[in-house]
Amino acid sequence: MTEQHLDVPNAPSGLGQGTRARVLVARAVFPDIVARLQSVADVEYTQDDRIDPPEVLRARLRDKHGAFITNSERIDATLLDACPDLRVISTMTVGVDHIDLDACAAHGVIVTHAPDVLTETTADFGFALLLAAARQIGDAERYLRAGMWHKWSYDLFAGSDVHGATLGIVGMGRIGQAIARRAAFGFGMRVLYHNRKPLPSATEHECRAAYCSLDDLLRESDHVLLALPYSPTARHLIGEQEIAAMRQGATLVNVARGGVVDEEALVRALQRGHLGAVGLDVFEGEPCVNPALLAAPRVVLTPHIASSSVPTRRAMVALAVDNLIAVLQGKPPLTPFKV
Ligand code: DGY
Repeated sequence: MTEQHLDVPNAPSGLGQGTRARVLVARAVFPDIVARLQSVADVEYTQDDRIDPPEVLRARLRDKHGAFITNSERIDATLLDACPDLRVISTMTVGVDHIDLDACAAHGVIVTHAPDVLTETTADFGFALLLAAARQIGDAERYLRAGMWHKWSYDLFAGSDVHGATLGIVGMGRIGQAIARRAAFGFGMRVLYHNRKPLPSATEHECRAAYCSLDDLLRESDHVLLALPYSPTARHLIGEQEIAAMRQGATLVNVARGGVVDEEALVRALQRGHLGAVGLDVFEGEPCVNPALLAAPRVVLTPHIASSSVPTRRAMVALAVDNLIAVLQGKPPLTPFKV
């Protein structure tokens, strides 16, 4: 993956004659990429990584024209009211659920995000989590490391097959489609998907995926993978009833957002043995994780790292920086968030 470089002059022109842009980079990120921003703007930045409480973030952003953020920084009307000079919020994530988009529009603040550059890496990880959960790799590794492996036996960590099984993907955007291609072409899976609306038939054909209702998907899939964007309507989309509708022994994998799954219902389903395996990269109250999930068998848990390969995280940061530079120069952003 290549980084995009812009040839930027010393004085961003989008702010008016002679004004040098003031930018906050809210978290530690690759310093060599931040240096590109520093060559065109006054940048408040520290490698001493911390998540600011809202009042500290507000104070740091008060006089800034632009903000580079991650998904840890909440952008809401209270913050925007306190930051009258703010022109652009650039998040290095593809998801924008930490940003109040209506408030940004009302304050005339442009929101940019980082789509595309993380698609394939996130799809790789979604598939890895599916394999790890279905084949009980997490439990098996812990068992071996704990010195508990004394003999080979016929049913030791006998999980479910991924190849040839039916995968149901909820959320068929770029990442869902990339996972579907892996499933269909790499693992010979039958792929069902559910989305706000069906994809064009050429895209369905390219992904070898068939549209169906959420109910049908839950009933027919051996493995269900969540890859939809978060919105208030997606909250607890997978709750008690939906989990109960899944096949006995099915796998549930979530690389979307924690709030999409009702974790209490998930824990109950695990306790009564309804689900065969669970893979979660995202959590309702992350970075806090429900202790019942930590204690449950057949569950693979990872700390929101689906897009975390070095080339991809560099590409995400580079795109966010390029978006900031473009807007501060009075140019259109490369990847504005479009509703
Ligand atoms: C994203 O880019 O939205 C990933 O989930 C990281 O937050």
